[in-house]
Amino acid sequence: MLSASLVLLVSVPLFTFYVLYRRGRGSLKHLRGPPVPSWLFGNQRQLRFQADVGDLEFEWVREYGEVMRTGGCWGIDQLLVADPRALQYILQGGGYHYPKRAEMNESTRHLMGRGLVWASGSVHQRQRRILNPVFTAQQLRTFLPQFQQCASRLTQKWKEQIENGNTTLNVSRWLPRLTLDAIGDAAFDYHFGALDDPDGKNELLECLDNLFADSTLYPSKFDMLFRALWDHIPESVLKCFEYLPNKEIHRFRSFKVLAKRVAAQLVREKTTSALASEATSRDVMSVLVRSNTAQEGKRMLDEDEVLSQMATLLLGGHETIASTLGWLLYELAKHPEQQQTIREEIKALRMKVGSDAEFSVAELDSLPFTNAAIKESLRLHPISPTINRIADRDDVIPLSTPIVGTNGDQISEVAIAKGQEIMVSICSYNRLTSVWGADAHEWNPKRFLEDRDEKSSAQAKNTSVGVFSNLLTFAAGVRGCIGWRFAMIEMQAVLVELMDNFELRIPEGGLDIQRLPAGMMIPMIRGKMHEGVQMPLQISIVE
Ligand code: HEM
Ligand SMILES: *[C@@H]1O[C@H](CO)[C@@H](O)[C@H](O)[C@H]1NC(C)=O
Ligand SMILES: *[C@@H]1O[C@H](CO)[C@@H](O)[C@H](O)[C@H]1NC(C)=O
Ligand SMILES: *[C@@H]1O[C@H](CO)[C@@H](O)[C@H](O)[C@H]1NC(C)=O
Ligand SMILES: *[C@@H]1O[C@H](CO)[C@@H](O)[C@H](O)[C@H]1NC(C)=O
Repeated sequence: MLSASLVLLVSVPLFTFYVLYRRGRGSLKHLRGPPVPSWLFGNQRQLRFQADVGDLEFEWVREYGEVMRTGGCWGIDQLLVADPRALQYILQGGGYHYPKRAEMNESTRHLMGRGLVWASGSVHQRQRRILNPVFTAQQLRTFLPQFQQCASRLTQKWKEQIENGNTTLNVSRWLPRLTLDAIGDAAFDYHFGALDDPDGKNELLECLDNLFADSTLYPSKFDMLFRALWDHIPESVLKCFEYLPNKEIHRFRSFKVLAKRVAAQLVREKTTSALASEATSRDVMSVLVRSNTAQEGKRMLDEDEVLSQMATLLLGGHETIASTLGWLLYELAKHPEQQQTIREEIKALRMKVGSDAEFSVAELDSLPFTNAAIKESLRLHPISPTINRIADRDDVIPLSTPIVGTNGDQISEVAIAKGQEIMVSICSYNRLTSVWGADAHEWNPKRFLEDRDEKSSAQAKNTSVGVFSNLLTFAAGVRGCIGWRFAMIEMQAVLVELMDNFELRIPEGGLDIQRLPAGMMIPMIRGKMHEGVQMPLQISIVE
């Protein structure tokens, strides 16, 4: 804390000069936006303490349009962006001109090391080239049987828990076990055994339990002000922050240290066999090792990069899918008739295929409502609701829908200065009425079935964003999620298995789930925050 305070003391005067200098360049003054309650905190405390992630942004978008000026800490303007064309420009067109903010890439380094989420510019390009072979459709198809086996082990475990016809289970406890086993099998050819031993102490799961709730949720005032300065502190100094006595940094680092230790052991076991066995091992680790050794010297990942990559995939490929599945099951529990639709689709497909064998990826893709429900859950509950970027040069951002400026003028493009901070509002885009129609805020999987309202679908096609189905949930462009297809296949396999075996209901007495803002969107029961992350659903076996 002492060193942190010192840094703050030195930084404040320097920073004030910087802000005054920047102010001189003018910038977003002509844009409208929500009232900024405080110079020091801007709108940040409102955002980080809102009851349900996104509610504030949704209200602002209704009021001020799809692009607006909001307040960051220390009097700095942030551009909140939900406009399709602007998003396309920043994420897809802009390529590497809109890097992540230094604050972001530093805390990513604390959490996952120097892996793909952290890397930027040419380092990112090099890492992504090496990782791409792991995520081709052809490679991912080979993981499906492993996902299906994990899903059927979950079925077994749930059936053991059910007495007298039904039981209420905390699915937030079970799903990460499933997804950890799945990423273990697929990525590392290593059996974590998290499902088989639900009460056992799995070191990784224990470290991950409530990770974001304990570290990132409801930051202190000091933390907010301190972190906002990181974007203006030289990288050489930032590197030392990893050792500051700070709750979030400590929690993040403890995951990284543990994940790298697990990875190091696996690399030792794998490297020889991956190279020896003539390219037969299909797990991510073996493909990564092969892909890496195929590069020339300077292009290769060094050992720390390989371990960081593993820590990155372990976290990126597990927590994300578990929470997304949790929200999906929650929505389906609220709509039992839709579960029935999914069951009927599965039954019809079985008849068509004419066997009880597990489905292939192409067969899973052919289930219309099942896939629509997965997409709708991704749309309505993006677990990464906002991502931050910074402009690396002066630029002009085009808009789909003009906004009205402070002086009443129509604005159809926004000029920004180098260093402009940008909030990419994934959750707002996913609920724009201009893209999704008047019921954008409601759960309605059918929207992915029908060719909806001509105008809005034409516009969506024109400026489609994201990696698929016009969803921004996996971000987009060169920094878009590399694991989206991996996630889709795993979610399809799990959903089909669960719907085939169980009926889900909201527990008696109702369930008031709150979407908490912890960087990742986490579910808790309103009024029961002390019980931590949870999603209790009533589960019975399908007759
Ligand atoms: C439903 C599941 C998932 C969601 C919603 C999701 C979401 C995202 C988002 C929003 C980003 C961009 C982050 C940013 O720009 O700040 C991202 C990047 C990334 N995701 Fe995912 N993800 C999911 C599953 C996965 C899986 C299964 C893996 C790996 C097996 C994975 C690995 C990554 C990696 C490595 C990146 C960094 C990509 C890059 O910068 O080149 N994700 N993800
Ligand atoms: C971190 O963020 C800055 C943007 O402020 C960027 O220029 C830098 O390259 C980023 N990445 C790394 C790995 O340092
Ligand atoms: C679930 O079990 C409880 C008693 O354990 C019973 O009251 C309730 O009706 C059951 N619900 C369903 C849907 O079977
Ligand atoms: C639900 O599961 C999560 C994740 O394992 C756990 O942290 C939490 O304590 C559980 N909540 C309850 C009420 O069982
Ligand atoms: C599609 O984009 C073009 C230019 O990029 C624009 O002129 C046209 O109006 C757009 N159409 C719709 C329906 O938004």
